[in-house]
Amino acid sequence: ADEPAQEFKAPVLCILGHVDTGKTKLLDKIRHTNVQTGEAGGITQQIGATNFPDYALRELIAKLPNMKIDIQIPGLLIIDTPGHESFSNLRSRGSSLCNIGILVVDIMHGLEPQTLESLEMLRKRNIPFIVALNKIDRMYGWKPMQDEAFFTTFNQQDENARDEFMRRARETVIAFAEKGLNAALYYENPDPEEYISLVPTSAITGEGIPDLLGLIVDITQTRLNKFIKYSPQLRATVLEVKVIEGLGTTIDVILANGEINEDDTIVVAGFEGPICTNIRALLTPQPLREMRVKGEYQHHKSIRATAGVKISAQGLDHAMSGSQLLVAESEDVIPYLMEEVQKDVAQIFSSINQKGKGVHVQASTVGSLEALLEFLKESKIPVSSINIGPVFKKDVMKAQSQIEKGNKKQYATVLAFDVKVHQEAVEYAETNGVKIFTADIIYHLFDQFTKYVEDVKR
Ligand code: GTP
Ligand code: MG
Ligand code: NA
Repeated sequence: ADEPAQEFKAPVLCILGHVDTGKTKLLDKIRHTNVQTGEAGGITQQIGATNFPDYALRELIAKLPNMKIDIQIPGLLIIDTPGHESFSNLRSRGSSLCNIGILVVDIMHGLEPQTLESLEMLRKRNIPFIVALNKIDRMYGWKPMQDEAFFTTFNQQDENARDEFMRRARETVIAFAEKGLNAALYYENPDPEEYISLVPTSAITGEGIPDLLGLIVDITQTRLNKFIKYSPQLRATVLEVKVIEGLGTTIDVILANGEINEDDTIVVAGFEGPICTNIRALLTPQPLREMRVKGEYQHHKSIRATAGVKISAQGLDHAMSGSQLLVAESEDVIPYLMEEVQKDVAQIFSSINQKGKGVHVQASTVGSLEALLEFLKESKIPVSSINIGPVFKKDVMKAQSQIEKGNKKQYATVLAFDVKVHQEAVEYAETNGVKIFTADIIYHLFDQFTKYVEDVKR
């Protein structure tokens, strides 16, 4: 069917903040999902994306008593990021892709290290953002009113709970002032361009979420309206690379502008050189479903910005997240596009030891691999080789080559993050003096390895 040309494309909204402030839980509340409880250790270790349609926004915002917002955007594409300190690469990637941000602050803790780091990222890129002052349900004696707008619930709280809230909100304003920033509760904000708006929320009770989304919609449609018009010029970035059962290696892509079609020839950066391939399936998760959680996918012939898209194609095994995705309109532009995509990703290779000394590192996604590499670099643990996906015998053999080369014994190690290790690989390691450490939390891996190094020294 012929659709009328869209005025607006969905703005990309990125959620940032210190670990455990409630970023994922807020999204769970909005989506009616349960992603956070399924995370290892309750921490986010991947970047996520959710296509959020306008009808869902309309439903949530309807609770606002004094605000009539005419929703013109077709929805939001929401990016969730990890708050743990190891993942600044993913915070940086998320913030580089977004039009607007929500910085989540735990009202019980105020400004924390990754709050400030995220704040810097947003300011450096000139991205407008608001603050969700989260966990208001933890005020002593708070009487929750599920999913209500802030004033509706605030007005019926006891004086003690109201006082505690006002005191903590004031403390947060002062903490911002100490960083040289003006902040105000959003309903008292004298100038939203000068003052950061604080929106009180609870991810557990849903209180304040209507206010939060109402404000986001309002800001995107007024202050940002120039930046969220659809244009056909393709702009797409690979968010994650991962193996999905039944689909093989897939890439999760943020389509920020333009259109992608089912049989397009695409070009992305890769660990072993640029990749040119034909799209086999063009998929999206169901609306309101997190892309990083395996689920049912919708198939498309063609997708227009803005969208979080999963692409399955041959040859994506060594694709790199963070790469731009380009579409080749003809054969002869392919070499040029290949050169183009590979330029941006030179960074990750700088983590690999030039003399071939160091451990072998393996992770479930390129994003987590990058975080792990960054972490190992800071910890001065050299890395000789890397891979994505389950650990096979051939990966163990790479670690084994450290012994043959006469390098330190502890380098004959596989550090495997959030991936399966095949039985054959385990057996091969045992008989050939290779250690395999596995963990589903990055810093546990580091702890195991450090302990091992000390044991070897003894
Ligand atoms: P990372 O992604 O690991 O940085 O954490 P996060 O910011 O996504 O926080 P997450 O959603 O994992 O929540 C952390 C903890 O805080 C969980 O135990 C949540 O149940 C709890 N929590 C989150 N929001 C609220 C809230 O509004 N009220 C209360 N009482 N608890 C909350
Ligand atoms: Mg999270
Ligand atoms: Na968490």
